[in-house]
Amino acid sequence: MRQLIDQLPGSKIREVANAALGHGDVLPFWFGESDEATPAFIRDAAVRSLHDGETFYAHNLGLPALREALSAYIGGLHRPVHAQRIAVTSSGVNALMLAMQALAGPGDEVVAVVPVWPNLTAQPVILGASVRRVSLKVVRGAWQLDLAALLDAVTTETNVLLVNAPNNPTGWTLMRAEQQAILAHCRRTGTWIVADEVYERVYFKPGERCAPSFLDIAEPDDRLVVAHSFSKSFLMTGWRLGWLVLPPSLVEAMGKLIEFNTSCAPTFVQRAGLAALAGAAEFVPGLIGRLRHCRDTLLPQLTALPGVQVATPEGGMYAFFRVEGQDDSLAFAKRLVTEAGLGLAPGAAFGAEAEGWLRWCFASNDPGRLTQGVERLRSFLGL
Ligand SMILES: Cc1ncc(COP(=O)(O)O)c(C=O)c1O
Repeated sequence: MRQLIDQLPGSKIREVANAALGHGDVLPFWFGESDEATPAFIRDAAVRSLHDGETFYAHNLGLPALREALSAYIGGLHRPVHAQRIAVTSSGVNALMLAMQALAGPGDEVVAVVPVWPNLTAQPVILGASVRRVSLKVVRGAWQLDLAALLDAVTTETNVLLVNAPNNPTGWTLMRAEQQAILAHCRRTGTWIVADEVYERVYFKPGERCAPSFLDIAEPDDRLVVAHSFSKSFLMTGWRLGWLVLPPSLVEAMGKLIEFNTSCAPTFVQRAGLAALAGAAEFVPGLIGRLRHCRDTLLPQLTALPGVQVATPEGGMYAFFRVEGQDDSLAFAKRLVTEAGLGLAPGAAFGAEAEGWLRWCFASNDPGRLTQGVERLRSFLGL
């Protein structure tokens, strides 16, 4: 085995989940998904497809109908994107890996804004590239970008800038002016931007349908790849369906990479994706309303606990917080599981920068469970 692979860290979130085995009464808020199943109108489309015998290989870049539907969906939110610039992928994480395969190899430098979901920074490492981490800074409990530090870190030596906003785990969101500065800077240094915007719809700013996207400001030929997923906006985590928006120059190569990775996304899953997009205007605002209710149930209760440092996130589906005196997040998360029946993700899973913090996924069909979870935390802390 390549030494590099042998040395990859295991998932600290799984470590906490494993600690729960044998403990019956655990409220799990550790993974990044809702406990609400995919809506029936999406599931039905997949069932119909299977009934119709759509069990064969599909085009590398996705069903033409799905690429067209994605083009219309994206165009409704951002600047128009031609269907030929879209590649359908087998999940968001697959989209990100494909982007990295196309853009970073041994000896290349990737700058990543962190803390971040660990898969993003593991992918370039797997491919032999080096990752330079630029940390968000905590200001009054909220994680914020140090734009000057980021622009300093991205030089002509930087092949890829990796940025996830709205951010998992911190909820930090890129603002338009920051995006403009980053895009202008990367045009000068010749750096590719890989933007993970899978949480763009999970955005709570009143009057906004989605978070600011690089797709609002970039030209088709910019060195920009945007990775997306059906997982979060359509409750489709288990389906493994995503997409990439690419400059025209990268599309043919991406078709080849998909051929060598998965060959195509399954047709019946793509049919479900088509149904999801057809129902998006009706479904997504309702989902975001429910998630907002979850956020607004959890955050005031967490904020009210003495010794808890937390900011209300504008995007994403996580409360990211720390408890005074608890500096070892993995040990703390394990104790919370085994002694309090509360399942949270340790900050250390997202990088050393987030040590001491905990991530609580508030996406739940039953916000009462969030209140129950806070009660467990409160009594564990003796408050
Ligand atoms: C920041 C971020 N990007 C990408 C993904 C990938 O989502 P999926 O592979 O389920 O499409 C996730 C999932 O948690 C995520 O948090």
